[in-house]
Amino acid sequence: ADRPAAIIIRRPDDMHLHLRDGAMLLAVAGQSAWAGRAVVMPNLSPPVTTVAQALAYRQRILTALPPGAEFDPRMAVYLTERTPVDEIDRIADAPQIACVKYYPAGATTNAELGVGDWRRVIPLLERMAQRGVILSVHGEVSDADVDPFDRETLFVERILSPMMAQLPTLKIVLEHISSAAAATFVRQAPSTLAASVTPHHLSFNRSLWAGGRLNPHGYCHPVIKRESDRLALVAAVTGEDAPRFFLGTDSAPHPRSAKACDRAAAGVFSAPAALPLTAQVFAEAGALDKLSAFVGENGARFYGWSALSSRVTLAREAHRIADSVPVGDDPAQAVTPLCAGQTLNWRVL
Ligand code: NCD
Ligand code: DOR
Ligand code: ZN
Ligand code: ZN
Repeated sequence: ADRPAAIIIRRPDDMHLHLRDGAMLLAVAGQSAWAGRAVVMPNLSPPVTTVAQALAYRQRILTALPPGAEFDPRMAVYLTERTPVDEIDRIADAPQIACVKYYPAGATTNAELGVGDWRRVIPLLERMAQRGVILSVHGEVSDADVDPFDRETLFVERILSPMMAQLPTLKIVLEHISSAAAATFVRQAPSTLAASVTPHHLSFNRSLWAGGRLNPHGYCHPVIKRESDRLALVAAVTGEDAPRFFLGTDSAPHPRSAKACDRAAAGVFSAPAALPLTAQVFAEAGALDKLSAFVGENGARFYGWSALSSRVTLAREAHRIADSVPVGDDPAQAVTPLCAGQTLNWRVL
């Protein structure tokens, strides 16, 4: 019964996106323009730590978009222990700045300048709570002695829970949740907490990257975990009461030279497959009626944006994802997308 040939949904917002800079930005910006808006992450090298830098980066993104693209980047500013409190006021006053991004120092790509001890940024968090600025968090402890499968759970216990207790009015997004424990925590938390969820954590388990020959293109932080975790994430986003879960693709391109090498970089380039995969997850769960809220309403509501009024059509038809997305003319710089060379059963019209 629930097998329409096409569905019309609200134009999505991608609430967590890495667009990089330079030649990579030029190559990937158009791949995300199925979304009407995105929260663009600031972990460039060096990171985007001020409103002035974020607005200059936003202009470079607008210049990189293909002609005719309607895409409104909303910027995240990278929090450091040296961020001045008055930068928070500038963030609160800038409509194109969506949030402040918290990286535990060393947790992921370009996170070296992140926060070592969250207690040292309490004055900044207090100003954010006063001004209604959202804190977006990469929710993994970065201690080398913690098992990668436990880093998210321990972040919730050791950092997020005390932070929420100390700052009960601060709005927080726990990004790219990857575990059953995190899904349960968010469902039971006060309404100041929301979570983004990626298409790859909804569609795959650890077999994607570790199930056969090692697949660096399926490797990201937080690592994609067990099937039981995937099922809990799907249940959370397709459930009856899921207003604080929303799509954030965490599309994070790295050049082939950084993936097929010693010490492969973490990050899944999900942009080309993101919406078809998400539709497939909701279709398989019999929850296509909830797709529009997940991709186009819940994120906007939490961030205080109006939902977009435009719509996109998703057709149930075979759609092949490219083997590779070129970056300039150097093959070593090309990016391999999630589901490269595979045929998905939904197409964005
Ligand atoms: C991402 C990265 O590599 O920069 N994450 C990661 O590797 N764990 C960025 C992010 O935190 O979103
Ligand atoms: O895998 C990841 N890659 N996780 C992150 O949090 C950052 C990202 C990146 O920027 O490559
Ligand atoms: Zn992250
Ligand atoms: Zn990310």
